[in-house]
Amino acid sequence: MGFLDNLDWRFATKEFDPEKPVSKEQLEKVLAAIRLAPTSYGLQPFHVYVIEDMKIKKGIKTNAFLQKQMDTASYLLVFCARVDKDDMKQRVDEYINLLAGEDKLKKVKLEPARLARKASIQSKSAEEFATWAMKQCYIALGFGLAACAELKIDSCPMEGFSKEAIDRVLELPESLKSTVILAIGNRKEGPKNPKVRFSNDELFTHI
Ligand SMILES: Cc1cc2nc3c(=O)[nH]c(=O)nc-3n(C[C@H](O)[C@H](O)[C@H](O)COP(=O)(O)O)c2cc1C
Repeated sequence: MGFLDNLDWRFATKEFDPEKPVSKEQLEKVLAAIRLAPTSYGLQPFHVYVIEDMKIKKGIKTNAFLQKQMDTASYLLVFCARVDKDDMKQRVDEYINLLAGEDKLKKVKLEPARLARKASIQSKSAEEFATWAMKQCYIALGFGLAACAELKIDSCPMEGFSKEAIDRVLELPESLKSTVILAIGNRKEGPKNPKVRFSNDELFTHI
């Protein structure tokens, strides 16, 4: 099956079959795709908690309208936005170091970019900055979803949970905010409804 067939095959799975867990190898591939997702300035302003522990899954479920995905999934990937501006300015330095490696001249050439990125971060209000970081989580989520489809792993993107409560369940530091969850596993049963999408005409304008 091709890429589009696989995207058509996937659906927001409501319940997974715990008897058919996703393997560690498959999980690693999904995480690799998430890692390869593009992000603004390449800063990857998120951290993903990969949850296998049943007690934590149940704790999340309690704060997520008791949705069955939460404790039947093989893994819950909780995308957390890095919302601390100082932390992100430090990450700019780390990113430039990774980019330049041992090349001192390259590092000098990257200095304007380093300063511009830090200035851009500094210019945002705390709220704008958090929104920016959260948007990057969704790009990574999309890559994870597409990877699952390609690997024929079932998944469900999920926002139906209390973010404050999940932050507490995961004992997150102030600098991290849970944003969106990707539940992965193998479906218990197929989709109840056909796939519904608006038409191309409604979605796209070619000019
Ligand atoms: C950001 C986001 C959050 C979502 N949150 C939930 C959720 O909490 N629970 C759920 O059952 N489905 C959730 N969904 C799934 C959507 O309802 C589903 O993707 C949509 O209806 C399209 O159906 P399909 O994915 O089966 O093609 C979410 C989807 C996205 C993209």
